Amino acid sequence: MSDHRLVSQNQQRIEATTSAEIPPVGFGTYQTGGYKCYNAVAKALEAGYRHIDTAMAYDNEAAVGRAIDQSSVSREDVFLTTKIKGYTELLEHDRLLEAADGCLERLDTDYIDLLLIHWWNPDVDMEETFAAMDELVDAGKVDHIGVSNFSVDQLKQAMEFTDAPIFTNQIEYHPYWSQPELLSFCQENDIVLTAYSPLAEGRTVDDGTLGEIGSRYGKTPAQVSIRWLIQQENVVTIPKSVTPEYIRENIRVFDFELTDAEMRRITELEGPFWYRQNRQGGEIHKVRGLVGPVVDRVTPDRLVSFA
Ligand SMILES: NC(=O)c1ccc[n+]([C@@H]2O[C@H](COP(=O)([O-])OP(=O)(O)OC[C@H]3O[C@@H](n4cnc5c(N)ncnc54)[C@H](OP(=O)(O)O)[C@@H]3O)[C@@H](O)[C@H]2O)c1
Repeated sequence: MSDHRLVSQNQQRIEATTSAEIPPVGFGTYQTGGYKCYNAVAKALEAGYRHIDTAMAYDNEAAVGRAIDQSSVSREDVFLTTKIKGYTELLEHDRLLEAADGCLERLDTDYIDLLLIHWWNPDVDMEETFAAMDELVDAGKVDHIGVSNFSVDQLKQAMEFTDAPIFTNQIEYHPYWSQPELLSFCQENDIVLTAYSPLAEGRTVDDGTLGEIGSRYGKTPAQVSIRWLIQQENVVTIPKSVTPEYIRENIRVFDFELTDAEMRRITELEGPFWYRQNRQGGEIHKVRGLVGPVVDRVTPDRLVSFA
């Protein structure tokens, strides 16, 4: 099957930071579809990305598959991730097998390198879900299985339910939101942490501290954000852009190294905070993540009046 050792020159695997055969800078495709998505993925492949992230929920698997198919890059050289929606019925054994076949068909491929459960769903017997995931591996339809948006407790449960190792937990992780507990757990258990929204959905690209650090190396705040991520053990990331210039910029992160002091300084950054209700509604919490209905957004100096 695929040999991910064959990655392009500027997309070399970082031997020291992860043992996994996954290119450390992948390409995100959330909130883009159709021709725009096709174009972006085509540009990304041209720029040297060999790891593409999509999902059933993004409604763009067909465009991603077509862009890979029509590129000059062989399918075997691309690490392709997709995700099963976290809806109750799709996480049932038979429905999950059907859903995965749908992904293969839309992506127009014989196998998926990495199939994830997009969200934990407490209303489903996860033993059933992961039994189906194991079957997909046994059938050769999926190389690796993983999860997304799982807490440490949920990860522990998932690990008990599967025969195949949990390859990754894809979670929100960026300079404004380090998740040390999840990172340590992943490192201790040889699980890749795939950092999504690595630029905090574009918010870190204007950050003064990242800009100042980047100016020492001739790099932009976006490049510093990405470098900070992949310099952490077991962390890979998937920045998204539809802008050719940004697509190229975001992968040019292999020719500089942040010092330990710079790494710590970025980890300590406090970005803007957001207030939001949890998924069930009700009480409003102060959180740092981006996913979920945003109730209000404030800068740290205004926090006091909300506390
Ligand atoms: N598992 C999950 O639940 C989950 C959730 C969210 C995201 N994800 C995955 O993670 C990927 C990345 O996260 P994301 O899309 O949320 O956000 P992101 O990658 O942090 O940021 C994307 C935004 O930043 C802009 N941008 C990118 N590079 C830039 C640069 N060099 N300079 C200035 N602006 C730049 C993009 O603009 P343009 O596009 O206009 O160029 C876009 O608006 C997603 O696409 C998806 O594949 C997964």
